[in-house]
Amino acid sequence: MIKTKLYIYIAFILLATTSIIYSCRKPQALEDSEWDERMSGGDCTVFDESAGAFGNVINGLSDEDRRVHGVGDGFFDKTFVPVSTTSPAVGLGPVFNQLSCVRCHINAGRGTPPLSGQPYQSMFFKLSVPGVDTHGAPLPVPGYGAQLQDKAIAGTNPEGTVMITYNYITEKLADGTDVQLRQPIYQFANLYTSMPANVLYSPRVSRSNFGMGLIEAISEESILRNADPNDINGDGISGRVNYVYDYITHQGNCIGRIGWKAAVPNIKNQVAKALNEDIGITTSIFPIEYETTQQGGKIELPDSIVNALTFYMKTLAVPARRNVKDETVRTGKKLFIVSGCVKCHADKHETATDVSFKPLSGQIIRPYSDFLLHDMGLALADGRPEFDATGNEWRTPPLWGIGLNQRVNGNTNLLHDGRARNYIEAVMWHGGEAQSAKDNFKKLTKAERDALVKFLESL
Ligand code: HEC
Ligand code: HEC
Repeated sequence: MIKTKLYIYIAFILLATTSIIYSCRKPQALEDSEWDERMSGGDCTVFDESAGAFGNVINGLSDEDRRVHGVGDGFFDKTFVPVSTTSPAVGLGPVFNQLSCVRCHINAGRGTPPLSGQPYQSMFFKLSVPGVDTHGAPLPVPGYGAQLQDKAIAGTNPEGTVMITYNYITEKLADGTDVQLRQPIYQFANLYTSMPANVLYSPRVSRSNFGMGLIEAISEESILRNADPNDINGDGISGRVNYVYDYITHQGNCIGRIGWKAAVPNIKNQVAKALNEDIGITTSIFPIEYETTQQGGKIELPDSIVNALTFYMKTLAVPARRNVKDETVRTGKKLFIVSGCVKCHADKHETATDVSFKPLSGQIIRPYSDFLLHDMGLALADGRPEFDATGNEWRTPPLWGIGLNQRVNGNTNLLHDGRARNYIEAVMWHGGEAQSAKDNFKKLTKAERDALVKFLESL
């Protein structure tokens, strides 16, 4: 009798131990040496280094899913017109920033600011006056709304534009190397009506669109794990969630994940907002164009198309890393870690389990971002709060794919306003919570700096 009990007991212990060992073997616990570092987007990674690297569909979709992806892709590329009897892409304007999604997201990639004094094409300016509305969103500017639309259909005046010029400043690295930085200067021009003196504005260059589905699917725990709003660990880096409003579910307090200030909780909100603000298209989500409230209520694009556009964004694959075994790249990665970059550009996240849509479910991904807000110092500040983000804070942008920007978009410009022309300039603009990481970077030797850059190029 006693013996049987003992056997049962032993069997139980064995079972418990195996299940502990087994749970340690879940992908989360993989050592870096066991992990295929090329797979930045887990199973949603694609091996493509061409100019089309940001525009690939993820694996594991059904034929019907692929068809919807294609419909969304089609509308992403379509040029909208004010009225048409043949095209479904109607309702442009009356004021807008661009004629199509793809003109700002060329090859599903990022935009660029113009050369000094030239007009801008793939960026825009968000506007507000101090204060918040009932949802915690910034207050629109009377006569202008939340964004400056610099173009208009025939018979309507554009709201105005912004003249962009640059001031050049030089910073020295520890080894004596000079780094020239360009600081943008903005001046409103051709305004159609007066702008209040207390207007706040935020320049935004467009960002690439791949991997959005994974970003949306990252589990809340995976994001909250890195948050340290009161800097309890005393490393000088806080990391706060931007809690924002979802205009589809009408819920507040949602984790913001999208945009340079993480002011948007999910892809569909972003798509509907882009249609409304950037192209002047009303949807059931945003049926009113701020500037033309008298015309409000008419829905120009049906939900089915908004859903297809959203699904297209959700199912764009992440390009694989290159040269991960290269010795210099590996050295660069170590320097990225010891310099403290990884404290914000967090290298690992898990997506939540989603039984209804398996391709994005339970993935281990390497976006190199904590998706949290950080005070980046005055030099980068826009002074325009957005939900919980202050005028000094920006969301850590994911770094996956940045090594392909040159090939996809023909430039290596970085940061929210594209002021940095390469990686070194981008780091030299880091301040605030990132000051010590920047100081560490400045102390690197040329060989170490080159290695760190080579690591970034491999992403
Ligand atoms: C006038 C230029 C412009 C147009 C047109 C435009 N976008 Fe964007 N897009 C931007 C900018 C700028 C951002 C960054 C916005 C921010 O920080 O809030 C952005 C961000 C995004 C993001 C989030 C990227 C990220 O990493 O957070 C998605 C998704 C997106 N746009 C989709 C679209 C879709 C879909 C359309 C067409 C319906 C579209 N965009 C049209 C400029 C544009
Ligand atoms: C305190 C958090 C923090 C630390 C530490 C940090 N960064 Fe950043 N990084 C950010 C934020 C936030 C931005 C966006 C700032 C902006 O757009 O104005 C950014 C932007 C970047 C960009 C441009 C990304 C893009 O999409 O345009 C690069 C490249 C970059 N960081 C590399 C580094 C490197 C290399 C280090 C270490 C030397 C580092 N960062 C340390 C928070 C951080």
